[in-house]
Amino acid sequence: MEKLWTGRFAEELDKTADEFNRSISFDSKMIRQDIRGSVAHAHMLGEKGIIPKEDSELIVKTLGEILEDFENGTLAVDMKCEDVHMFVEQELTARIGDAGKRLHTARSRNDQVALDLRLYLRDRVSEIRKKLCDLCFVICEKAEEGADAVMPGYTHLQRAQPITFAHQILAYAMMFTRDIGRFDDAVKRMNYSPLGSCALAGTTYPIDREMTARELGFDGITQNSIDGVSDRDFAVEIMSAASLCMTHLSRFCEEIILYSSWEFKFIELSDRFTTGSSIMPQKKNPDMAELIRGKTGRVTADLFSLLITLKGLPLAYNKDMQEDKEAVFDAIDTLEKSLVVFTPMLDTAKILKNNMREAAKRGFINATDLADYLTKKGVPFRTAYKAVGEIVGFCVKSGKTLEDLTLDEYRGFHDAFEADLFDAIDLDRCVYARTSAGGASPENIKAQTDYVKSFCK
Ligand code: ARG
Repeated sequence: MEKLWTGRFAEELDKTADEFNRSISFDSKMIRQDIRGSVAHAHMLGEKGIIPKEDSELIVKTLGEILEDFENGTLAVDMKCEDVHMFVEQELTARIGDAGKRLHTARSRNDQVALDLRLYLRDRVSEIRKKLCDLCFVICEKAEEGADAVMPGYTHLQRAQPITFAHQILAYAMMFTRDIGRFDDAVKRMNYSPLGSCALAGTTYPIDREMTARELGFDGITQNSIDGVSDRDFAVEIMSAASLCMTHLSRFCEEIILYSSWEFKFIELSDRFTTGSSIMPQKKNPDMAELIRGKTGRVTADLFSLLITLKGLPLAYNKDMQEDKEAVFDAIDTLEKSLVVFTPMLDTAKILKNNMREAAKRGFINATDLADYLTKKGVPFRTAYKAVGEIVGFCVKSGKTLEDLTLDEYRGFHDAFEADLFDAIDLDRCVYARTSAGGASPENIKAQTDYVKSFCK
């Protein structure tokens, strides 16, 4: 097939150069968006009298047929084409001749690709958004199931204070609601049409950019045609949101891996989301969680790769920018695939409440509550802290827990201790009493699930 740009060339493009130059193998993903953009452009060209109305109508009709043939599998993408834009134009021209050749009036592949990528990412992000909401709902359900599952909360991965499993996983729901917000923000800024920027300088044809923008669901048009074709900030922002979202998933996965180890045994993953070993018959490995943790590095690298591609580019379009697509597609694909496996993996995990409670009983995680008990009796906090530190030291030496000591033993450390101290260090009470906003108490957990559910509705 002859190249669309052959006019000024005497020799054919070298075969290896041709292959090197091609983006069709990855940008054909955007065929639907390319056709949608071309339909809007053709409508506008016809409406403004830039091309004959009959040609515009024929173009629109034929583009519809091309899309239909592609969707039902009767039209395969020609992998010999340079890119998806060339493929669609070539197919159109093969079907309707001269009318098809008029489509590219007042347009360049530079504004076309900038448009297609925005349309494509808008569609993909809307899918990601739905999947993040599904995940948030599953977290809320799990939180309701684990509302009474008292477990140690950790700092430095050392047992710190009593919390519930609900409290712990709702922390992740908060991260995911922020991720949704970041995607929404990125889409809001992205949702301006660059179509009509043309190669870089705009055009002398009486085009109506607002008209195509409206038809394509944009909130307006980009203000500067040079920026219109050179800007890839939107891809950077979406990849940045994707990287951070993957980082959140990765931290969650790290905890899932720890919690499902024999050392913790706080949860058990379903057989459907674990794998065996080829040699050790007893193994049940959390491969999915490990893979998501592993893929996070890739998505972050995708973000860096585009930032580095862009950093030295002069205005306006440069072919380097063709490198944007594989990175941003990989980031979005990887995040979506990760969500598709993570959500049901979490949903089907069993919460081992007894093991959580057993862990909560060791590690003196109610020591702060004991110090707070003394403080509430009028002892200055620092003094109370010191007395409890000594009590913990004594328990460690004698192999006891705070619950094992007698009131007399307690009074040996401070005379403000009374019999009600045992209520104050009861694990359930420690959790219920943390009523400060955002804390571990059941009312707070309910407020958090309410927030997440209303955010995601
Ligand atoms: N395949 C190209 C890309 O992805 C389309 C734009 C080509 N523009 C050009 N002036 N060669 O960037």
